[in-house]
Amino acid sequence: MSPSTSPPSSVTTAIRAAVRTSPDYPFDLVAAPVKLDQNEASADFPAALKALALERIQRLPWHRYTDLNAEGLCAAIARHEGWDPAGVVVTTGSNVLIALLIQLSAIGGRVVTVKPNFALYALDARLLGAALTEVPLNDRHSIDVEALAAVLAGTVPAAEGEEGGVAAPPKGVVYLPRPHAPTGSVCGLDELERLAQLSAGWLLVVDEAYHQFADSNAEDLARRHPNVVLLRTFSKAWGLAGLRLGYALTSSAVASQLRKLAPPFGVSLLQSECAHVALEHSSYMVERVRQTVLERERLFNALVRHPLWQVYPSQGNFLLVRTPDAAKAHADLLGQGVLVRRQDKLHGLQGCFRVTVGSPEDNTRFLRAAGLEG
Ligand SMILES: Cc1ncc(COP(=O)(O)O)c(C=O)c1O
Repeated sequence: MSPSTSPPSSVTTAIRAAVRTSPDYPFDLVAAPVKLDQNEASADFPAALKALALERIQRLPWHRYTDLNAEGLCAAIARHEGWDPAGVVVTTGSNVLIALLIQLSAIGGRVVTVKPNFALYALDARLLGAALTEVPLNDRHSIDVEALAAVLAGTVPAAEGEEGGVAAPPKGVVYLPRPHAPTGSVCGLDELERLAQLSAGWLLVVDEAYHQFADSNAEDLARRHPNVVLLRTFSKAWGLAGLRLGYALTSSAVASQLRKLAPPFGVSLLQSECAHVALEHSSYMVERVRQTVLERERLFNALVRHPLWQVYPSQGNFLLVRTPDAAKAHADLLGQGVLVRRQDKLHGLQGCFRVTVGSPEDNTRFLRAAGLEG
């Protein structure tokens, strides 16, 4: 990761230093026959549903603006999730919500998260001028509840350079992905409850991008604590990463403020109609999740037999694998047509790569490329 080309000096002064000095989002586009690098669904949105969505889109008036705040789609999501529609906020990908929540509560304040972690929490914190506190996970990839609790309670002084100095560290947003990306670990609901109880004055965001693949979710917690926000996405289990839609489930009190920051008429009729069709036919998603979990177990059970690699249990649609040399493992797999994502630059993940659970055929190709029986 390196900052993009410096702008010419005539432009430099117009651009905030936090942006100029920030690295680009860490992603390299690589083409490969077996693509297991972005935790996408292994199969496209069903063809019959695509056709239905396109047919409906065809009949809609394209010259009219859509709902101001995607009210129709929020209502459909609320029905699917059993949530109060007043507590649903939809944007073009949950990526967008990550930045909006910092704008809502942490500009000039603080973003607290764990490390290693999904890159965007830290990137957006820097870009938006929030002080960043990253609490390391322990060796078993569990969260350090005591350390996080101390940060929330304000008993840990702000680091040097953080807003607020040493005396009273400012509050803001806490980001915890559950399942955690990229390790696939899942923090205990009792641990989350403890953190929620200490989180007065904070927004506690549980990023549930992969929740369908896990044994549990934090809905109950979010119902009881109005400052808890769940982030969900159509990009993973629903197989709609290209559609770009994500949403927050929270209290109406938080949602009504968050909505002010989302662009008006921000969700297109194309996105909205496709999501309606997906929600009306959600059984395809449930069946795919079931297959993905079975395939995840097959991959895990094969990978534990690898003589040199260590695979970690995961509740996501991906597995983290530690090797003696991530660059070599990545290159060897790519040489056989299989693309995985290196994670070895992240805190504590030396030698690691992440592999998405793909189709049965792609998983077999991955296992063979790894020298294991498919
Ligand atoms: C933990 C986590 N949160 C959020 C996202 C982004 O999802 P979206 O496609 O909805 O922006 C990802 C994408 O990989 C992710 O891994």
